[in-house]
Amino acid sequence: MLLVFTDRTTLLSALPPGLTGAEIGTAGGDFAQAILDRSAPARLHLIDPYRFIDSPDYLPDMSNVDDAEGERRFRFVQDRFATPIASGQVALHRAASPKIAAQFDDDYFDYVYIDGNHTQSAVAADLDAFDRKVKPEGLIMGHDYVAHPGAKALNFGVVEAVNAFVKKTGCEFLMLTYEGAPSFILAKNRGSPLAQRLVSAVLSSMIPAVAILKAEDKVMGQWDVCNEQGERMRTLLAFR
Ligand SMILES: C[S@@+](CC[C@H](N)C(=O)[O-])C[C@H]1O[C@@H](n2cnc3c(N)ncnc32)[C@H](O)[C@@H]1O
Repeated sequence: MLLVFTDRTTLLSALPPGLTGAEIGTAGGDFAQAILDRSAPARLHLIDPYRFIDSPDYLPDMSNVDDAEGERRFRFVQDRFATPIASGQVALHRAASPKIAAQFDDDYFDYVYIDGNHTQSAVAADLDAFDRKVKPEGLIMGHDYVAHPGAKALNFGVVEAVNAFVKKTGCEFLMLTYEGAPSFILAKNRGSPLAQRLVSAVLSSMIPAVAILKAEDKVMGQWDVCNEQGERMRTLLAFR
C-alpha cells in the first residue's frame, strides 16, 4: 500500500478522462464537482437517498439530515449539475445504496467512490454490492478510513469493513491518502492499466509517498495534532 501525502481532490487528477464512475453519498455535491472538474468522466452516477435514515447506528452521523434538509440538498444538487445532467454526463439517483446496485450491469463501472452511510455493516454492504458492478480492472475507493475516537463516536466502521473486504476478496489495498479524513483506493487487479496509471502518476509527481508493506489490518489508530485554536495541524497514523 502506498501512503500518499496528498488529499483526495488532488489525487483525482491522476484518473484518466472518459471513465464511468459512481459516487455513493453525494450530499451537496462538492466532491462530485471535483470529480467532474479534475477527471472529466464520460459518465458519473451520483447516488444519495436525500432523506432521513431512521437507523439507530446511523443517528449520530451529522450527514443523516432530516427530510426537509435532504429535500433542500437534492434540489440544490439538481440545480448544481443541471448542465451535465442535461448532457448525459451526470445521472442523479435519489436512491439508497446498496439496493440501487442491482440496476447496473455487472462490470459496468471503472470505479466507485463510497461515501454514504459509514457504519461497518453499511460500508460492508456497499463494498459487496458494488464489487461485481466494477470491472475486473477497476477501482473501489471511498472516504473516511478513520478509526480514531471521534470517528467511533459517530459509529464509523470504514476501517473494519474495508480491511475485512480486502482480506475476503484478495484485492489490493493500493493507496491511502494522508489527510484528516483519508480516502482508501482498492484495486481489483493491481496490474491493471488503471491501477498502474494511478501509481505512476503519484510516483512520477512531486507527491511524497511511503510504501507500507502488508498494511492491511495494521492501522491501529489515528491522532490529530491540533494547535491552540483546536485546528488540525497534522494527522498521525499508527501501524502495528
Ligand atoms: C458524508 S456525506 C457525502 C459527502 C460527499 N461525498 C462529498 O464528499 O462531497 C454522506 C451522504 O451519504 C448519504 N447516504 C446515507 N446513506 C446512504 C445510502 N444508503 N446510499 C447512498 N447514500 C447514502 C447521506 O444522505 C449523505 O448525503
